[in-house]
Amino acid sequence: DGQPTTATIKADADGPVYHKEIFTQFAEHLGNGIYGGLYVGKTSKIPNTDGFRNDVIAALRELNVPVIRWPGGCFADEYHWREGIGPQKNRPVKVNTHWGGVTEPNTVGTDEYFDLLRLVGAQAYVSGNVGDAPPREMAEWVEYMTAPAGTLADERAGNGHKAPYALPFFGIGNELWGCGGNMRPEYAADVTRRYATFVKVPDGTRTLKIASGANVDDYAFTEAMMRIAGNMVDGLSLHYYVLPEGGWPPHSDPVNFGEQEWADALFEANRMDELITKHSAIMDKYDPKKRVMLAVDEWGAWYKQDPDTHPGFLRQQNTLRDAMIASTTLDIFAKHADRVRMSAIAQMVNVLQAMILTDGSKMVKTPTYWVYDMYKPWQDATVLPLSIDAPYYAKGKFTLPAVSGSAVKAKDGAIHVALSNLDPEQSNTVTIALDGVNGQGVSGTILTAGAINAHNTFDNPDAVKPVAFEGAKIEGGKLVVTLPAKSIVALTLR
Ligand code: AHR
Repeated sequence: DGQPTTATIKADADGPVYHKEIFTQFAEHLGNGIYGGLYVGKTSKIPNTDGFRNDVIAALRELNVPVIRWPGGCFADEYHWREGIGPQKNRPVKVNTHWGGVTEPNTVGTDEYFDLLRLVGAQAYVSGNVGDAPPREMAEWVEYMTAPAGTLADERAGNGHKAPYALPFFGIGNELWGCGGNMRPEYAADVTRRYATFVKVPDGTRTLKIASGANVDDYAFTEAMMRIAGNMVDGLSLHYYVLPEGGWPPHSDPVNFGEQEWADALFEANRMDELITKHSAIMDKYDPKKRVMLAVDEWGAWYKQDPDTHPGFLRQQNTLRDAMIASTTLDIFAKHADRVRMSAIAQMVNVLQAMILTDGSKMVKTPTYWVYDMYKPWQDATVLPLSIDAPYYAKGKFTLPAVSGSAVKAKDGAIHVALSNLDPEQSNTVTIALDGVNGQGVSGTILTAGAINAHNTFDNPDAVKPVAFEGAKIEGGKLVVTLPAKSIVALTLR
C-alpha cells in the first residue's frame, strides 16, 4: 500500500560521527527567549531554581541539550559583559536596540548563563562582541570565564564562582556581514584574525573559536574567510532560515497555510543540502583535512509573528510542518557530518522555530521539540550511509523527494533509522536492504497528525506528540516500513 520507495543502509561502512553538538540550542536576549521563557527570577511564583523555571529546565534536560549558544545573535555584537555581572540590582538597564527597543535589565549575565548550563547539563558556546567593543573587552571576558587566578578570577570568585568555567566554544562575533558590523568579506576576515588573536585560555584547556560565516549562499564570504582567517579558527558558521512565500522579510503565516506553503517550506529547507555542499567545497579547497568545522549555528523557519505579539519578539507557533523541516534538516546534516559538526536551530524557547513556548506559568512542547526527542540517539553515534530511491512529491512549482531519512549506529551497537514522508496525502512503503545488519527486532515511534498545520497549544498540549509505531517489520532480511502521509518515524533495530 502507498507509493514504493527502496533504500539501502550500509551498516558495515563506518561513516563520520554525528556530533552531539549538531543538537546545540540558541538562546538570545530577544523577546521572551530568556526573560519569561527561561528566567523568571528567584522571587517569581513560577517554580524555579536560581531564577530559571523548573518546567522548562526539566523539558530541556529530557532532550539532552548538549550546548547552548548565548547571548546572541545580533544582540551579541552590542553586548557588554561587564554590565551583566555582580549584584543584579546594580546592573544597568539598557535598550535592546535590535529586538523591539524594549529594556534589557542585564539580570541574566555570564554567571546566570553558567547557572543555566549547569541546570540543563549543557556546555557553553559564548558569542563575543566584535561589532562595538575592542578586542581587549573580549579578551577580558574570556579571562573572567576561564582564568584560574588573577584579578578577574578573583572577581568571578567574588560573584560566587571560584572555579573557572569550561568554555569549549567561543564565537568571534555574529553576522559580521550584517548586524555585527556590516563588514565586507575581506575586512571581516581581517577583523576575525585580530580578535581571534586575543582569545586566550589557560594551558590544559581548549576553546574552539568559531568565526562568523556566510549568510545563505554568500559563497564569496566563505571564500574570503577561509583564505584569510581559516588558519586561525576552528569553525566557520553558516546561517540559513526557511522563509516561505518569497523570502525576506518574513511574512508567511506559521499556522494558517495550505499545501502550497507546506511544499514551499520543505523545498526551502531542502536547500540546506545544496548550501552545505557548496560552502563545504570552498572549505575543502583551503582545508582538505576538514579541521575547520562548518557550524550551521542559526537555522529554522522564520514566519510572520503570532497575532497580538510584538513584531520584534519573533514569536511564532510551531506545527507539524516545522517538525518536518527539523527532521529533514537533521537528515541533511547526516550527509555532511564530516564537515558539519555543530548546528543550532533558532531558537530554544519562544523565538522562531522553538522547542518550547511559554505564556506566564504555562508551557508547551512544540512538534519540533518532539523531533529533537526522537533524534536523541543520533548524538555522537556513527553515521551509516543511507541511500534512498523515492518518488518525487510535487505541489505547484515545488518538487522534492517524498522521503527523507538518516541512519546511525549507536555505541551499544543499536541501529537507529529516521524516515520522514513529506507527502501530505499519500502513504509510502519503504523497503530497506540492510547490508551488514544482524538485527532481528525493530521498534519505533511516529510523529504525525490529522492536519499539516496541527500544533500544540496550552489547552491542547498533546495534539502533536510521538506514539508507538507498529508499521515496521523485518521481512526476508529487509526492513519494510509503511509511512503514513506527513509522518516522521524513528526506528531502533537490535
Ligand atoms: O535568530 C534571530 C536573528 O537572526 C539573530 O539574532 C541573527 O544572528 C539572525 O539574523
